[in-house]
Amino acid sequence: MFAVHLMAFYFTKLKEDQIKKVDRFLYHMRLSDETLLDIMARFQAEMQKGLGKDTNPTASVKMLPTFVRAIPDGSEKGEFLSLDLGGSKFRVLKVQVSEEGKRNVQMESQFYPTPNEIIRGNGSELFEYVADCLADFMKTKGLKHKKLPLGLTFSFPCRQTKLEEGILLSWTKKFKARGVQDTDVVDCLAKAIKKHKDIDVDILALVNDTVGTMMTCAYDDPYCEVGVIIGTGTNACYMEDMSNIDLVEGDEGRMCINTEWGAFGDDGALEDIRTEFDRELDLGSLNPGKQLFEKMISGLYLGELVRIILLKMAKAGLLFGGKKSSALHTKGKIETRHVAAMEKYKEGLANTREILTDLGLEPSEADCIAVQHVCTIVSFRSANLCAAALAAILTRLRENKKLVRLRTTVGMDGTVYKIHPQYPKRLHKVVRKLVPNCDVRFLLSESGSTKGAAMVTAVASRVQAQRKQIDKVLALFQLTQEQLKAVQGKMRTEFEYGLKRDTHLLATVKMLPTYVCGMPDGTEKGKFLALDLGGTNFRVLLVKIRSGRRSVRMYNKIFAIPLEIMQGTGEELFDHIVQCFPDFLDYMGLKGAQLPLGFTFSFPCRQTSIDKGTLIEWTKGFKATDCEGEDVVDMLREAIKRRNEFDLDIVAIVNDTVGTMMTCGYEDPNCEIGLIAGTGSNMCYMEEMKNIELVEGDEGKMCINTEWGGFGDNGCIDDIRTQYDKKVDEGSLNPGKQRYEKMTSGMYLGEIVRQILIDLTKHGLLFRGQISERLRTRGIFETKFLSQIESDRLALLQVRRILQQLGLDSTCEDSIVVKEVCGAVSRRAAQLYGAGLAAIVEKRREDQGLENLKVTVGVDGTLYKLHPHFSRILQETVKELAPRCDVTLMLSEDGSGKGAALITAVAKRLQQAQKEK
Ligand code: BG6
Ligand code: BG6
Ligand code: GLC
Ligand code: GLC
Repeated sequence: MFAVHLMAFYFTKLKEDQIKKVDRFLYHMRLSDETLLDIMARFQAEMQKGLGKDTNPTASVKMLPTFVRAIPDGSEKGEFLSLDLGGSKFRVLKVQVSEEGKRNVQMESQFYPTPNEIIRGNGSELFEYVADCLADFMKTKGLKHKKLPLGLTFSFPCRQTKLEEGILLSWTKKFKARGVQDTDVVDCLAKAIKKHKDIDVDILALVNDTVGTMMTCAYDDPYCEVGVIIGTGTNACYMEDMSNIDLVEGDEGRMCINTEWGAFGDDGALEDIRTEFDRELDLGSLNPGKQLFEKMISGLYLGELVRIILLKMAKAGLLFGGKKSSALHTKGKIETRHVAAMEKYKEGLANTREILTDLGLEPSEADCIAVQHVCTIVSFRSANLCAAALAAILTRLRENKKLVRLRTTVGMDGTVYKIHPQYPKRLHKVVRKLVPNCDVRFLLSESGSTKGAAMVTAVASRVQAQRKQIDKVLALFQLTQEQLKAVQGKMRTEFEYGLKRDTHLLATVKMLPTYVCGMPDGTEKGKFLALDLGGTNFRVLLVKIRSGRRSVRMYNKIFAIPLEIMQGTGEELFDHIVQCFPDFLDYMGLKGAQLPLGFTFSFPCRQTSIDKGTLIEWTKGFKATDCEGEDVVDMLREAIKRRNEFDLDIVAIVNDTVGTMMTCGYEDPNCEIGLIAGTGSNMCYMEEMKNIELVEGDEGKMCINTEWGGFGDNGCIDDIRTQYDKKVDEGSLNPGKQRYEKMTSGMYLGEIVRQILIDLTKHGLLFRGQISERLRTRGIFETKFLSQIESDRLALLQVRRILQQLGLDSTCEDSIVVKEVCGAVSRRAAQLYGAGLAAIVEKRREDQGLENLKVTVGVDGTLYKLHPHFSRILQETVKELAPRCDVTLMLSEDGSGKGAALITAVAKRLQQAQKEK
């Protein structure tokens, strides 16, 4: 009995002595709570540095955005392939995620070796090898000739700008294949796979193993928002608020950040913690100076650290009686699995003896105890360091959420964590001590990171399918060169119909004679009034023309026309117009003056002289009763009479296109075409009298108001009209009419956009599938909003703000889609304008028998003026479709009022001349 006690005493004493000895030797490796709190604070600062745009380039902890935005919600499904490369084992897998809701995942996998000559050889050979393994797997599983989406778990630091891309920043751990750094590994792999003609896969996602782990665990526990690997390497990821991620646009929601914490300390931030053993280990590694935090923690290095320490202790005579074996001198002879075995609770000491003996040493009892304690200190330090960094992440999460207490789950994986007997317990304990205000659950990812990678791939594949649907819709608006040529040809045909007496009445493009026969010659002078009705604004103007100098002064006032007047009775409308005059004349100090008036009336009118115009039908937003079929000049005169206050001398009625042409023609005599791209769409041009069968005489030219907005009303362009165009038409004031106008002008483009957005939302592709009241409201997308949204200078955030102004609550993805939709719709409009314009310039060129035509087009309208790309696309299209015409687009700065006044001046002069005869 005494002997037993004595033995026990002896043993305890021996143990104490050994432990003291080792503790003394490894003094620097034992980290106090204070030090850990300090490291935690340092890591918090590192994270901040990595996240900042300006500080990221020099940050050692890279904080890489992963483009994984949400944890699985259970709606993922499908069959996926998965590769898991970069941990201790390389695996190829097939993952079957079952139907929605059931949360059932089935996996089949196969391990493949990763020989050193492959992972440290040539980059292209590495990827070819990976592709070979994939092909082999697909063959054995009978998956050849099946197109499957693939998720790649690639456990190295990669810079991503999207999910399906990853630029390798540097190799870490055991890998060092040549020519891969700074290239896109997804691309490398895709190229290697392409060489296998018999397999077809689509790499949809690249994920780090930490991300895969987090997603795997999140599938079972929705609280999981952190992933940690303590394996061959070490690293962590977590869900960060988008508003804190400078490197990715957008503020909405969260995105997973791959911290790459292994590189913590690479800038010297941990020099006070690192020991001589760490420095020696680093020098002998594949990447000296790099991954310094990782080298104190992870599986690839723990065994080696122990070996270096043991060798040093032996050299100092503190172990093995000062004897060393050649194995102990050999790098890599002690592995992490040995460290784990030596630290086993019961068999630990026996294991230690066996392992040391295998290393060619002859350990005493005391040696075994000491070596075991060395292992404990090394692995304890590892757990402590991990805990400090993890505590920093947890604190950040808690602060982001502005919580007093955080409840969260951390997904864990990696051989160190899994096989080391004490490691998890120690880690958990220290984390809880460092962050007492967090309730942390640690969840081991039983199935590795692939299940999570498959989830990410599933989401990516859903996004891809949605993208395809969106592209399909947008494709409807993409017109080919042939289609545009066909439009040009048909427009040309319609012009001819409209000009011919026999076909004129049936023509959809009405080709209305305007009785404007010449351009101003500079001799015009005097004061004129003008009315400008039918565009965005209703204006009254005073125009003073001075002869000789081609100078014009204008004064104008905008008046509102309420909707109920636009769509009330004709009498009300004209009374309203007339009522503005006294106000304006008063304002101009011209009360009582009887000035000649030009009336810009931007609707189709049949004219028999310059001052007679019968409204054929209302277009755009007007629908006043009792006007169609009436002479609007008469209606205006009657309204003046009814008012019985003043008199006006109405000399001319002018379409806005004609006014615009005149405005520009005053400056550039080459201007023979007028174009409006505004609320409505129309064009006028100077035609040879001999071609105008409706008007007597063959001499000279007359301006024709084409009213091309009605192009297509006979169905001739129905092949390019989409369901959305039809919807817009149905909801308009004049269904079936003005089909070309409805595909091109400001009043309708926003409506087309709105119809598309409604449809995309219905299909769950936008606005979370919720059609808001706002989206149901007609006319919310005015031209100015479309123009703003499409501005290139605008960041996504600003697009979102505009949408918010419109009452549309959108995510960043939504904003991208809305912008694309606007772009597709306005681009088509500009191209269709181009086709129409090409038709007229070609006609003019041919009619005059010219090889080349040089012509100026006067242009006006809010769409043309505000939209950032409209004029460029219009110009490009004309150039392509009418290459022999040199077309200059000239913006009418002064509106059509000036032109109307000039026309009035000319008409007045002719009137006078007539009277004098
Ligand atoms: C595996 C994961 O379970 O753990 C891998 O599937 C990961 O993606 C690995 O890289 C990390 O541990 P180790 O010890 O294999 O490096
Ligand atoms: C104005 C002209 O500048 O542009 C009007 O003065 C014309 O006559 C208008 O109708 C067309 O553009 P919008 O966009 O106002 O319809
Ligand atoms: C290394 C890699 C990192 C990976 C970790 C764990 O640190 O750089 O990407 O997550 O090992 O495998
Ligand atoms: C409508 C009108 C037309 C006008 C055009 C531009 O198409 O019918 O007369 O020129 O809008 O305002």
